[in-house]
Amino acid sequence: MTRDWTPRSWRAMPVKHVPDDYPDLHALARVEGELSRLPPLVFTAETRRLTESLAQVAEGKAFLLQGGDCAESFKEFTIDNIRDTFRLILQMAVVLTFSGGRPVVKVGRIAGQFAKPRTSSVETIDGVTLPAYRGDIINGMDFTPAERMPDPKRLLKAYHQSSATLGLLRNFAQGGYADLCNLHRWTLDFVAGSPQGDRYRRLADQIFESLCFLSALCVGPEQQRSLHQVDFFTSHEALLLNFEEAMTRREHPSGDWYDTSAHMLWIGERTRQLDGGHVEFMRGIQNPIGLKCGPTMEPDELLRLIDVLNPHGRPGRLTLIGRFGADKVSDCLPRLMAATRRDGRPVVWSSDPMHGNTLKASNGYKTRPFDRILSEVKSFLEIAGAEGVHPGGVHLEMTGQNVTECLGGAQAVTEDDLSSRYHTHCDPRLNADQALQLAFLLTEKLQTLRAPQARAA
Ligand code: TRP
Ligand code: MN
Repeated sequence: MTRDWTPRSWRAMPVKHVPDDYPDLHALARVEGELSRLPPLVFTAETRRLTESLAQVAEGKAFLLQGGDCAESFKEFTIDNIRDTFRLILQMAVVLTFSGGRPVVKVGRIAGQFAKPRTSSVETIDGVTLPAYRGDIINGMDFTPAERMPDPKRLLKAYHQSSATLGLLRNFAQGGYADLCNLHRWTLDFVAGSPQGDRYRRLADQIFESLCFLSALCVGPEQQRSLHQVDFFTSHEALLLNFEEAMTRREHPSGDWYDTSAHMLWIGERTRQLDGGHVEFMRGIQNPIGLKCGPTMEPDELLRLIDVLNPHGRPGRLTLIGRFGADKVSDCLPRLMAATRRDGRPVVWSSDPMHGNTLKASNGYKTRPFDRILSEVKSFLEIAGAEGVHPGGVHLEMTGQNVTECLGGAQAVTEDDLSSRYHTHCDPRLNADQALQLAFLLTEKLQTLRAPQARAA
């Protein structure tokens, strides 16, 4: 027996990490009403197609690549930024598809990733205490009372920026930019001369030859289309529930509810309480959803969350995103994977190697050592192999910009380098070079894991 669900039933539950200090609640309600009358950002048929693609991942027949900014911002909203992140995802997808021999489901952390959970609701600098910055959809980053005041108009601005971003992404994905024939052109300038750039170029040459071979054969129009465009999906953390509620629409004639703010949404590690508002909201929408699983998640708790979020085991509905830290993953992940395998309801297992590996450098910068990120991904693949679970995907914070936010990588970013191009609005991101290096490592590992699986089949 389940309680009745409505898009606003979460309001009766305890809700963490959402602002409770809007100065004018009537203004907020007016904006929520306005949002609920605006067109959907994504369409239900696309969202269902993502569920089908993720069902393929759950079966071990495809791989999920999910990535983008930790937090998008109003200030860094430019076509260059969006295109560079998009093409980095294309490059990684090419590497993973070609060497992994499986289709790659491409999902951006983009076009709506604006709200951030914060450990403390206030920030104190030099004896002055103000509300913490919670992401551009809520308040501003500058340390002034006016900027830190939550402002409902920001919800509308986030909607319109997401809509414009989606317009660009649709054009890049379907309008020729993502054509496989362009794969030499996707290399970002600052990567071109690096070992990753060379390696990518060699792979691109090989693919290009195969393409010429393919087009010499009689390839039908359907296959042709597949070479010239990609399906690209959007996702963000469903944190700010009044925004998500306002974007949730009933589909006719099925009567099903969809959150139309993105194709996929996920529940954060800090808001996954069984009796909390976030789980309540997410159980009622039909979108594919993610659930972040950190070091404190117990197998029992996970199964009870599955009972609520995907009771009938609809394939592709639920992606579990492990984010433990390189030092904890071996303690935590095996029993969670064993629990879902025994349970039998299909899930996608994905690895977020970013959030458990954050530390403060000696000069105060929040950073992530690249070798710990690689190490968590390697452990994830090995543990999945040992547990007989398909290592379904990765979830990354990354950018196509030439930033210095994570330590290490082939271009060896040091603590002293961090200050030179540290641009993130929240957490440190992989730059394109580091992200490509990770993609190459993934393919090497996946290839060695593929061999025993082929024998079993
Ligand atoms: N449509 C196919 C796919 O998405 C092939 C493809 C076209 C592709 N352009 C791409 C693959 C760019 C990776 C990157 O898999
Ligand atoms: Mn983050």
